Amino acid sequence: MPDHALAQAALTVEAARAGRAPRPHVTSFFDPATFTASHVARDPGSKSAAIIDSVLDFNPASGRTATRSADLIVNFAREQGLTIEWILETHAHADHLSAAPYLQQKLGGKIAIGSQIVTVQETFGTLFHAGPEFARDGSQFDRLFQDGDTFKIGNLDVSVLHVPGHTPADIAYVVGEAAFIGDTLFMPDYGTARTDFPGGSARTLYRSIRRLLSLPGETRLLLCHDYKAPGRDQFAWETTVAQEKAANLHVHDGVEEESFVAMRKARDATLDMPRLILPSIQVNMRGGRLPEPESNGTRYLKLPLDVF
Ligand SMILES: [Fe+2]
Repeated sequence: MPDHALAQAALTVEAARAGRAPRPHVTSFFDPATFTASHVARDPGSKSAAIIDSVLDFNPASGRTATRSADLIVNFAREQGLTIEWILETHAHADHLSAAPYLQQKLGGKIAIGSQIVTVQETFGTLFHAGPEFARDGSQFDRLFQDGDTFKIGNLDVSVLHVPGHTPADIAYVVGEAAFIGDTLFMPDYGTARTDFPGGSARTLYRSIRRLLSLPGETRLLLCHDYKAPGRDQFAWETTVAQEKAANLHVHDGVEEESFVAMRKARDATLDMPRLILPSIQVNMRGGRLPEPESNGTRYLKLPLDVF
């Protein structure tokens, strides 16, 4: 079956590479507490920009949130005079809280995520025993994107690819020649994202990754995380399709689906749950909004016992 969404994304990359369409200026902000790279993609011909995968700081010992990381982006956007059109999520993160609502309040823009977020909301709404006030229809977001959707950031063309596996809802945003691929591939020397969260699948991730690696070799890949690989002392969050195909530890060219699935499952079985998974999921399934305050004015998160 022809993959129209992938063909569309490849055209988006090729048009930018050939100079027929603008190429994004990308500025990245790395949060060493959660190993998250947030990105600002800007149309060079206007002040229009999008923020991808932001971080709200959270101290799990005190239960205190902070906006130090998000304010770096707010300050950058204001200094540059940017018009933030979009606040994009690649997925509902399990290792950091999203700052999307805070950024929207400060800078404007529409908050968007993949349409399969409704599956994630159903799963985690049940798991956290959320009440009927928690809508499981994605209505906390301004826009839900599907595979093959296209939109604009100023004059930049964006193509959306659904790349599930890490979670059911992951999407990649192909902005001109730069693909923001969330948690699918990591740097070549680190490998791939885990697939053991509810709704994750190693086989599905493999197929999503093969799709991403069918984009032109020069496609820039912007990652959501880096943990440094053994022997590397700098954090890094950008690579290319060609580099991943040649050298990705887990999925370089020649690695077959069955051996990837076996490797990924074996590796996932050794991983601890992320430090912030319980707070992150409860906040991010609500589009980054904190739970409503109780009658004493305090907001509470739940801690399910013996579930994860
Ligand atoms: Fe993630």
